[in-house]
Amino acid sequence: MQFQGLVFGVPREIMQGERRVAAIPETVKKLVAGGAKVLVEKGAGTGSFFPDEEYAKAGAVLVDDVEELFAQADIILKVKEPLFNSDKNKHEVDMMHEGQVLITFLHPAAPANHEMVKNLAAKGVIGLTLDGIPRISRAQAMDALTSMSTVAGYKAVLMAANRLPKFMPMIGSAVGMLPPATVTVIGTGVAGLQAVATAKRLGAVVHAIDIRPDAAEHAKSLGARTVDTGVPAEIAIGEGGYAKHLPEEWLIKEREAIKDTILKSDIVIATALVPGRLAPVLITEEMVKAMKPGSAIVDVAIDQGGNCELTVGGEVIEKYGVSIDGTKNIPGMVPESSTTMFAKNILNYASNIVKDGKIVIDLDDEIVASSLVCKDGELVHAGAREAMGLD
Ligand code: NAI
Repeated sequence: MQFQGLVFGVPREIMQGERRVAAIPETVKKLVAGGAKVLVEKGAGTGSFFPDEEYAKAGAVLVDDVEELFAQADIILKVKEPLFNSDKNKHEVDMMHEGQVLITFLHPAAPANHEMVKNLAAKGVIGLTLDGIPRISRAQAMDALTSMSTVAGYKAVLMAANRLPKFMPMIGSAVGMLPPATVTVIGTGVAGLQAVATAKRLGAVVHAIDIRPDAAEHAKSLGARTVDTGVPAEIAIGEGGYAKHLPEEWLIKEREAIKDTILKSDIVIATALVPGRLAPVLITEEMVKAMKPGSAIVDVAIDQGGNCELTVGGEVIEKYGVSIDGTKNIPGMVPESSTTMFAKNILNYASNIVKDGKIVIDLDDEIVASSLVCKDGELVHAGAREAMGLD
């Protein structure tokens, strides 16, 4: 049996406001059927509406004391990076031990995580980060980042629609027709395409902006009207078909090309990003000033600095009558669906590193190599090492 003899630990997430959890009863059942013992901290699923009894029915052992869970587990499954647990007055890293595997979003290159990641390496923990999973077809079922972007794109539209002082669809009434709202989605990758689909379902007129012709084409097939950014494909597309970070002169041209569309929008969902870079600023203060009062921007790309120059991370502000939403953990606002997707992704990832009850860290496997952060006391993640100035 694949997981024979292995102990998995699923702690309750301790980041403030985090409602997700890394396993659901269905994934626990699969691990147990594969021979694993699964320890779940009591109340871990409460925030995402998976009660303790369901985990117990699936074969999990519910644990009161999270330190015990960390002490016993061979593999820890988590949503967020290790943090200081104020109930225990101890950092989660300090509850971990040598040779233990941690699978979670570690975002190891982010400066806020440098010290934690160094401590994790020093402990001898095998740290694997889900944000390192390459977007290749074999990894699709493990790709938690893509799942969370799907949730974010969907929810962002609902958040904006909720603030809008008018209907999203065209409404026919006894006093005449009320026109539909206009939604513009900037960046139609994973989050953006989901935003396009959601806005279309709500009956809005949707415009889509992306510098990659393929992405614009996908948005068009979902019923969006595409906007020419004026950026030639050879400037826009880099290695592997990804978007390239545009030089400022091209960003200026793009802003000019998309300005009219932004100004006539009731809602702008901003998701433009080039992996590993700060998000491009595409909505300037001047544009916000000229937007219709009552319009709503949701800046989904806020973790990388945002696409709107006025967005404040983690806050919803109003400027010139326009609401600008910089909510950081959008998937956490849809906890049941995002937990379901995340739990399945992490189970698939864990299945890839366990063979016949043994943990195998195979660096010839592209998925493992690009998600490995630390092992045997060494910090190996290239992006983190570069960001820390170690190479
Ligand atoms: P993605 O890489 O699939 O899509 C980004 C799109 O932006 C690509 O299609 C790319 O071609 C496009 N793009 C890049 N530069 C552009 C430019 N100058 N103009 C127009 N389009 C441009 O990325 P994904 O997975 O959709 O994520 C998008 C953003 O959403 C990221 O910043 C991610 O961190 C964020 N996100 C935020 C969450 C939150 O809670 N706030 C949750 C999940 C994702």
